[in-house]
Amino acid sequence: MADLVLDRLTIRYGDVTAVNDISLTVGKGEFLTFLGPSGCGKSTTLFSIAGLNHATSGTIRIGDTVLFDGQKGISVPPERRDIGLVFQSYALWPHKTVAENLAFPLKLRKLGRAERDERIREALSLVEMMPYAERYPFELSGGQQQRVALARALVYRPRLLLLDEPLSNLDAKLRERARVWLRELQERLNVTTIYVTHDQAEALAVSDRIAVMSMGHLRQLGTPREIYENPADAFVADFIGSSNFLTGSMIGEAGGRARVRLGDGTELSVLAGKASADGGLVVAVRPERIELVGGPGENAIRVEIAQGTYLGSVYQYEVTGGGSRFRIQTTRPVEGGTAFVRIPPEAAAIFAAGPDAK
Ligand SMILES: Nc1ncnc2c1ncn2[C@@H]1O[C@H](COP(=O)(O)OP(=O)(O)O)[C@@H](O)[C@H]1O
Ligand SMILES: [Mg+2]
Repeated sequence: MADLVLDRLTIRYGDVTAVNDISLTVGKGEFLTFLGPSGCGKSTTLFSIAGLNHATSGTIRIGDTVLFDGQKGISVPPERRDIGLVFQSYALWPHKTVAENLAFPLKLRKLGRAERDERIREALSLVEMMPYAERYPFELSGGQQQRVALARALVYRPRLLLLDEPLSNLDAKLRERARVWLRELQERLNVTTIYVTHDQAEALAVSDRIAVMSMGHLRQLGTPREIYENPADAFVADFIGSSNFLTGSMIGEAGGRARVRLGDGTELSVLAGKASADGGLVVAVRPERIELVGGPGENAIRVEIAQGTYLGSVYQYEVTGGGSRFRIQTTRPVEGGTAFVRIPPEAAAIFAAGPDAK
């Protein structure tokens, strides 16, 4: 398959702009994830690629094949897009056996009996469900139903696989196993895949690249590592992993470093941000990157311990200091009501304070 290209895709429902001017390219064999909070436009984008809803403007194409072009009025019907789709709800036909569920899309494509049987065997073997071919969906567990839904999407060898929160109905342990298994299968088949989830841990674990969305906008597109370590804005920093936001103001920038004054007057030296942040700013730093130190010093903040929680492998404390409330994680317990913590300059990013700042 050639690359899938979304170009300035916009989808409106009345006054709601569900998808706002999104452009991106998904490479052959790539596993790309749309990640964002509920209602940010992930499913709407996915369904428009499948042709299940009608985009307002922009284009969708696979290589030179145009699937949708708002300006030219082109919209290829879903069954001619050659795309496999798996929904959160699985949407298996309850009155058909597993084998009959898989046969249906093949009959639609007018494949003969022998070839149908061969493809069904192949697809069920891929998802390790061959022994269940004659069962009905209600005779299967949630995890098994999800595998059948995947087999049904793969059985006609689509050029593109679209998965809309396919694991969200599984319990936590099963979900973790299923995502590893799913990723291995995707790599083996080398099928270009777009995955939708609101679960950032899942996105970080399975994706080649992640497209972070918020309110219909594409906020950042990058590898899991790029997005985690170098978030483009305060929204991404907050949504991926968890970040502390310490409010402050800029003193000045020099040599790639910024000097920042926190709310209580404490000064910090941090990596200069992408935002110029002339006015109010936030210093974003992840709890696990903050170091416990013995006393005052460069980039150290005196904190009051408000509350501690033992998380099994680390201790997490809610603290106040530098004029903000934030969280730290340590491997040993903190004795007493106050402590000093150090913010490593390379562990902090600054963003302009704005509506996204938390
Ligand atoms: N058919 C529709 N009619 C009106 N509004 C819709 C429709 N489908 C989705 N929306 C709106 O578009 C926005 C994005 O929805 P959706 O893509 O389902 O979000 P997500 O999958 O990220 O949770 C939401 O505000 C939702 O209410
Ligand atoms: Mg959705």
